[in-house]
Amino acid sequence: MNNNIPQYSDLAHHWKLDKDIVFLNHGSFGATPTYISEQQTRYRDIMEREPVDFFVNQWPVLLDRSKKKLAEFVNADPDDLVFVQNTTTGVNQVLNSFLFEPGDEWLVSSHAYGACMLAMKHFCERNKIRLNVIEIPFPVEDDQQILKALQDKITDRTKLALIDHVSSATGMVFPIKKIVDFLRENGVCSLVDGAHAPGMVYLDIRHLNPDFYVANCHKWICAPKGSAFMYVKPDWKHFIKPLIISHYNDTDEGGSSHWANQFMWDGTHDFSAYFCVGDTLDYIEKLHPDGWEGVMNSNHKLVWNAGNLIAEKLGFDLPLRENYIGSILTLPMPDGEEGFPKFNETPPLKQKLYEKYQIQVPVFMFPSAPRQWLRISSQLYNNIGQYEYLADCLRQIFKSK
Ligand SMILES: Cc1ncc(COP(=O)(O)O)c(C=O)c1O
Repeated sequence: MNNNIPQYSDLAHHWKLDKDIVFLNHGSFGATPTYISEQQTRYRDIMEREPVDFFVNQWPVLLDRSKKKLAEFVNADPDDLVFVQNTTTGVNQVLNSFLFEPGDEWLVSSHAYGACMLAMKHFCERNKIRLNVIEIPFPVEDDQQILKALQDKITDRTKLALIDHVSSATGMVFPIKKIVDFLRENGVCSLVDGAHAPGMVYLDIRHLNPDFYVANCHKWICAPKGSAFMYVKPDWKHFIKPLIISHYNDTDEGGSSHWANQFMWDGTHDFSAYFCVGDTLDYIEKLHPDGWEGVMNSNHKLVWNAGNLIAEKLGFDLPLRENYIGSILTLPMPDGEEGFPKFNETPPLKQKLYEKYQIQVPVFMFPSAPRQWLRISSQLYNNIGQYEYLADCLRQIFKSK
């Protein structure tokens, strides 16, 4: 039992989080409020009380209601949006359908999430497409540096670029509107990996106007795990087909909803996480007097203050200016171990923070080992005292080395 564990914020009672752990990693998998988990159970109970009536009559209504709320939140037409289980699925969905000719080139940013990078490599190898990596500097000075790195890799054959909205390893919020516009001006389609964006940063898909946008609802919207969406610009709908061909694919009903309907039924499964997205948007909005804008601003402010506090106590500079930060912030650490830890391998620093100090926080090697970074997240349930504690623990660890 560690008696030094700092408290969560006054809003933490909305979540189930273990009070014996200092949870500073909302970014990896999100965390869902207790009320929403109970709501998910209510949907499951309705389903089990009368499964046939549920899937025939209630399922389409619940799905439609939740999707309309989500579409409103991200400012997109609900007919251009489909639920998928996670960002990884959405990215694979687009890549699997994207038209190509041998000799085409695709781009991926050096900040891309590992699973999405592997998906790009797989489809490129399978289809004899050349994959070029845009080496985006980190720390970055300004937007121009990013656009220049992009420009250096675009050729006449470049057809598609996968770009993060908020990167996982570096926590950097990309100037995504400038990038999407720049790609379009150069004849390149944009596939935006927005896994972290909705609920963390303001998102307006109509204004952004990407070709494809995929994002999680289970991270910063706090919806149950297994809820995400894929947006496809109407110009491309004719060639983006579901990965799973099922009901609604044989009907040629036409109409504005036909494309989205084809993705609706990927076989029987538990759709309750999707139904909860609309409920979660309503629920989290009420946790701050200024609604979602207040939630995002308050999370941003906390992570920025926390980052500055830790940087001061440990004596380093933050790698990014405030305009490149949302609610996750990556901090430079002394070099780690050689060898790149794979997904589910735990760097020693992360392990020590968890086992000795009960702090749950991710540690990344970027761009490669041994260059080591620690990433803090801030959500409404966090409290500045938790980051002070992290700073003190880091000081103890590095002092004793
Ligand atoms: C930038 C980014 N893209 C994609 C993913 C994958 O998300 P999921 O596992 O929900 O598919 C993550 C997960 O952390 C991420 O940070």
